[in-house]
Amino acid sequence: MSGPDDGARDTRAFFAVRAAGWEERFPDDGPRFARAVAELGVHPGDTVLDAACGTGRALPVLRAATGPAGTVVGVDLTAEMLTEATGRGRAEIAGLVRGDVHALPFATGAFDAVLAAGLVSHLAEPEAGLRELGRVAAHGARLALFSPVGRVALARRHGHELRPDDVRGQPRISALLSRAGWTTTLVDDAEDRWLVLAVRQ
Ligand SMILES: C[S@@+](CC[C@H](N)C(=O)[O-])C[C@H]1O[C@@H](n2cnc3c(N)ncnc32)[C@H](O)[C@@H]1O
Repeated sequence: MSGPDDGARDTRAFFAVRAAGWEERFPDDGPRFARAVAELGVHPGDTVLDAACGTGRALPVLRAATGPAGTVVGVDLTAEMLTEATGRGRAEIAGLVRGDVHALPFATGAFDAVLAAGLVSHLAEPEAGLRELGRVAAHGARLALFSPVGRVALARRHGHELRPDDVRGQPRISALLSRAGWTTTLVDDAEDRWLVLAVRQ
């Protein structure tokens, strides 16, 4: 019988072999990350979580937004992704923590803003993962679920068509967020990106 642990093991195996060279595969995504972080609304002094930070390519943008008075933390399931992040100097601008979004090693209400890029479709239990992100978010905290490529283009990159039951489609994602304690404020399901913004209820 398969379960969430099998999903986590498969996810780690999938990304472990892709960690080296991950950022070189997507050299043009930088401005899209910068725009998404600007829309998330990160302020000087904020405490910010990059959930599923991977190699940490969003961390410099988040650090620039929080300034030196803020706190930036990246968490990821895959050790190889975090090793790559460290090799790129991201441990000097952010805390890097190995952990699962379904059970985060952070205090309740710890974060003012959460970015989760490329995460939701990998979650074994999306509602539980979004609820756990809500637990570590302060009341009124902001969340950005993001992909720097549109859903259709990403499906084609993976060699298939967009599935009708895609967890990122509307109204499914807003319903999931609502059940997990978030209020959706924006869904931009564009050809060149997918961005959902929400506020902690
Ligand atoms: C598509 S990559 C995106 C990485 C990074 N956010 C970026 O945009 O470059 C997905 C990442 O999610 C991580 N991941 C998947 N499921 C996770 C979970 N349950 N908890 C923490 N990280 C997870 C993977 O290890 C991988 O690094």
